[in-house]
Amino acid sequence: MIEIENVSVKYRTENDIYTAIANVNLVIPDGGTCAVIGPSGCGKSTLLKCVAGLIPDYEGRVLINGEEVNPKAQTIGFMPQNYGLLPWKTVVDNIRLGMKIKKAPELLDRNVIKQLMRQLGIEGLGHRYPVELSGGQQQRVAL
Ligand SMILES: Nc1ncnc2c1ncn2[C@@H]1O[C@H](COP(=O)(O)OP(=O)(O)OP(=O)(O)O)[C@@H](O)[C@H]1O
Ligand SMILES: [Mg+2]
Repeated sequence: MIEIENVSVKYRTENDIYTAIANVNLVIPDGGTCAVIGPSGCGKSTLLKCVAGLIPDYEGRVLINGEEVNPKAQTIGFMPQNYGLLPWKTVVDNIRLGMKIKKAPELLDRNVIKQLMRQLGIEGLGHRYPVELSGGQQQRVAL
């Protein structure tokens, strides 16, 4: 379960403090699916980054299964809006990097990577760079 209680985020720029989200409350039960919809700039990504533990200095509370969000202690899957691929690494190296970060040595097995790429319909693209992929293909590499 994810509980978001009175969460607010202020971004500090050089000469301004901008409130991106204010007093957001939301409960997502185990196995639940939640779509956050709103116009560009309304704070959707900001909210997701709080839940992923990428914005440490928010106000309010974000709890995952009753524990304060902590990406080091909890397994949190987060796909950034720009997919977070490294442009100078090939598809297969981007995939390997994610697995290394997750410390999943069994997933670094070439055959496992091949199988995952086949399941995602990106087999045969391993040697390409992100810029040489469609948006949907980039998204599946990120996944
Ligand atoms: N690092 C930052 N510093 C200052 N302001 C920021 C920063 N990141 C986001 N903002 C501002 O906070 C607001 C919310 O941004 P956010 O990225 O959460 O919007 P969004 O709802 O995901 O938009 P989009 O639909 O365009 O992706 C925007 O007005 C944005 O300009
Ligand atoms: Mg966004």
